[in-house]
Amino acid sequence: MGRLARVYAAVAVVVAAVAVAVVVVKRRGKGPKWGKVRAIFTDVERKCATPVARLRQVADAMAVEMHAGLASDGGSKLKMLLSYVDNLPTGDEKGLFYALDLGGTNFRVLRVLLGGKEGRVIKQEYEEVSIPPHLMLGGSHELFDFIAAALSRFVATEGDEFRIPEGKQRELGFTFSFPVKQLSIASGILIKWTKGFCIEETVGEDVVAELTKAMERQGLNMRVTALVNDTIGTLAGGRYEDSDVLVAVILGTGTNAAYVERANAIPKWHGLLPKSGDMVINMEWGNFKSSLLPLTEYDEALDFESLNPGEQIYEKLMSGMYLGEIVRRILLRMAQESSLFGEVVPQKLEIPFILSICDIVAQRGARLAAAGIYGILKKLGRDTVTSPKQRTVIAMDGGLYEHYSIFSECVNNTLRNLLGEEIAGTVVIKLANDGSGIGAALLAASHSQYLEG
Ligand code: GLC
Repeated sequence: MGRLARVYAAVAVVVAAVAVAVVVVKRRGKGPKWGKVRAIFTDVERKCATPVARLRQVADAMAVEMHAGLASDGGSKLKMLLSYVDNLPTGDEKGLFYALDLGGTNFRVLRVLLGGKEGRVIKQEYEEVSIPPHLMLGGSHELFDFIAAALSRFVATEGDEFRIPEGKQRELGFTFSFPVKQLSIASGILIKWTKGFCIEETVGEDVVAELTKAMERQGLNMRVTALVNDTIGTLAGGRYEDSDVLVAVILGTGTNAAYVERANAIPKWHGLLPKSGDMVINMEWGNFKSSLLPLTEYDEALDFESLNPGEQIYEKLMSGMYLGEIVRRILLRMAQESSLFGEVVPQKLEIPFILSICDIVAQRGARLAAAGIYGILKKLGRDTVTSPKQRTVIAMDGGLYEHYSIFSECVNNTLRNLLGEEIAGTVVIKLANDGSGIGAALLAASHSQYLEG
C-alpha cells in the first residue's frame, strides 16, 4: 500500500470518529484523549501492515500449502477438496435445469433453459429467499425442509416454455457453499459449517441425501445430479462465458477459491485419471493460516468469540462477515480508552457486527486476497510469461468484491503490483455475477442421468 493510501485510510477512520466526537464534545463540553486515540490508531495501522515483501511470502506459503493439501487429506490447513468435476461446461449443454444456491443468509433457486451451442441460455428465472437466523443454528431437518419447501413453491410456478418432456425427472445442481468431502459428483459429506451456520447434526452427513429426503417430504420429484461448492459453480459459469477461465474466487460473506488442477499433480487422488486429465479443486482457502498473516489482538478476540475458534483465519481477515466486526472492535477500544465518543460509549458500539467496513482493515483484507490469488497463479505457473502468451482469467463473485469498490480496486492493484506489468497484462479478473447458480445448472446438465454414452 502506498504512503498516500495509508494516510487516506488513517484519515478516513479518524475523520469519522472526529465528526462524531465533535458533536458529543459540543454537547458535553468534554474532549477525547487525542494522544490515546492516535496511539491506538498507529498501533492498529502498524499491525495491519501488508508490505509487498510480506505479501510475496504469504503467496509462497499459500502455494506450499496447496502442494501439501493435494498430497494427503489432513496434510494442510488447506483442504484442497476434490470436486469430481473433471470437465467444465463446453456450451453444448441443453435442456431445463434447476439450481439451488445455499451458502449465506440468503439462498437462491433458479431454473434455466439451455439451448446448446446455438441457443446458449434461452431463458432463466430465479428467486431469492432469506433464511431465518434461527434455522442457521437449529436442526438439520428444519433447514432442509425450509429450503425444499421454497424450491417446491418455485417449481410450481414453472411456465409452459420451461416444461420438461413427459416422464422425465427434473434435475438440480446443488450449490452448497461449505466444506464438503465429495464422494462423487452428486454426493458429499459436510466436514464443518462456516459463516455463522452451526447445525451439529448435519456434520458428517451427506447433504445431498438430506436435501433429497426433504424434497421427498415435499412430494417434489427432483434429482440432484451435481453437488458443487460456490467456487466450483463460479468456475463452471465463468468457463461457459470465457474459455480462459482457470480460477474462481469468492469474496463475499465468506471467501474461497477453486482452480483447475492437473489430475496427475494430485497425489491423494487414487481414482482413474480423468479423460480430460484435469480435476477442479475446491481449496477452502478461508481456512489458510500462517504466522505470516498480520493478526492483531482484535482479530484474535474476534476468532476466540466466534462460532469456530481457530478456524477460517484467512476468511476472518477479509470476508464480508468479519470486516465490519474487526472495525467495531477497534472503535470500541478507542471509545473505552480515550473517550472518543464522549464519556459514554455509544450503546450501539457494544453490539457485535454493527458497523460496515472501513478502509484500513478492508485494505489489509484485499491485499491478502490478492496475495492468495498470486499464490494460485504461482502454483499454476501463470506468474511468468509463457510462450505463446497465455491469457488467465479469474472468475470472481461475491458482494464484497462487487459492491465495495475500494476493496475490489485494491485487490486488482495489488495483484498487478505483485505480478508486474507485463504478466498483469495477461491476467484478468472478471466479475461473474451469480455465476455459481448458472454454473451449478450447467454442471447438472453435463452430469444429467439422461445423457447418452
Ligand atoms: C466459506 C465456505 C466455502 C465457501 C466460501 C464462500 O469459506 O467454507 O465453502 O466457498 O465461504 O462462500
